[in-house]
Amino acid sequence: MKYIRNQKNLIDKKVLLRLDLNVPLKNRVITDQTRIDKILPIINFLLEKKSKILIISHVGRPKGKRIEDLSLKPICENLEKKINLKINLIKEDIFKIKKEDLFKDPEEKVIFLENIRFYEEEEKNDINFSKHLAKLADIFVNDAFSCSHRSHASVSKITEFLPSFAGLQLETEVNALKKVTTEIKKPITCIIGGSKISTKIGIIKNLIPKFNNIIIVGGMANNILSFKGNPIGKSIKEDDCDVIIEDIFKISKKYSCSIFYPEDVMVGKNLEDKSEIKNLNEILNDDLILDIGPKTIEKIKYIIETSETVLWNGPAGYFENPNFANGSFEIAKKIIEKNKNNRVYSIAGGGDTIAVLNQIEEINNFNFVSTAGGAFLEYLEGKELPGISALNKYV
Ligand code: 3PG
Repeated sequence: MKYIRNQKNLIDKKVLLRLDLNVPLKNRVITDQTRIDKILPIINFLLEKKSKILIISHVGRPKGKRIEDLSLKPICENLEKKINLKINLIKEDIFKIKKEDLFKDPEEKVIFLENIRFYEEEEKNDINFSKHLAKLADIFVNDAFSCSHRSHASVSKITEFLPSFAGLQLETEVNALKKVTTEIKKPITCIIGGSKISTKIGIIKNLIPKFNNIIIVGGMANNILSFKGNPIGKSIKEDDCDVIIEDIFKISKKYSCSIFYPEDVMVGKNLEDKSEIKNLNEILNDDLILDIGPKTIEKIKYIIETSETVLWNGPAGYFENPNFANGSFEIAKKIIEKNKNNRVYSIAGGGDTIAVLNQIEEINNFNFVSTAGGAFLEYLEGKELPGISALNKYV
């Protein structure tokens, strides 16, 4: 892999910079800026080298459609303030843009392209789309570790058409995860939550051989509860996961890994509701499971207490509503309490987990915090991520 920090002559080079600015947005307002703060070093590095920076990112999952609520505008404006530079957000059809149209003003240093997932070609890893993107710049830099598990045009295919380099944040994240996976102390517990069930559920069985305990909370826990015959009302759930779940329990027996899932929950009738504690057999058809309950929290705390290493990826509930944030806060507090006494090695990952830690101002009390969610888990599985292997291949 070639690293951008080793590149000498970057003066006036047009750099296509893939970032992951997929930050949480509520009504077009950014609710957690960590992913933006983490990419400031690469921006400053390239500005110091006098490069011209063409930023590509996605936010959300617009699935090839132009959705104004998923415009990069608020993110672009936020970055403008942070680096104190005017940034032009190009909304025009990407296929109409030519290299010579960019940076015509010699004072212009940074340009943003609109959400790359507005183009269906991105997620298809489309060759012509990648070639077109490549024609807009001189070199490619991937500083988006957190979406390097995606075989997408601006992450993977593009490296076939431009000299490609690893960015500063990508390098930091890979090195940190390499270190933790080689120096890990047992018993080791992985807590997996969040709402991206489809991304994560298939990964669990590959993680089982590496962990003593896997705690499943968040949206994925609903799939398990339903599989075990419990009512889950109108809670989120992924279809057709029963075979995967059967495998999870079978494999966990083979490797003596305990799978723990909620024993009680907090429900509401809608996302803005107040919370009500329910046992698993009390859930009604119009209930939404939005957090873990007190019995579950106590059991999770006990598992954390008896662990030497804890990896946490994905909140336990819908923490955006404070009535359903308690499970995530309690998990965080227990890990931090142990961490402060040096009794655990702790790693947290993913945009929403970071948002939880920021809400309680504890982000600095984990040993390592990764911006990556799905990519972090796939890395732990031992997979080579498409965005990383692409950088390794085209040297
Ligand atoms: C993430 O937030 O994990 C990355 O931005 C990838 O997003 P995705 O799961 O929508 O591909």
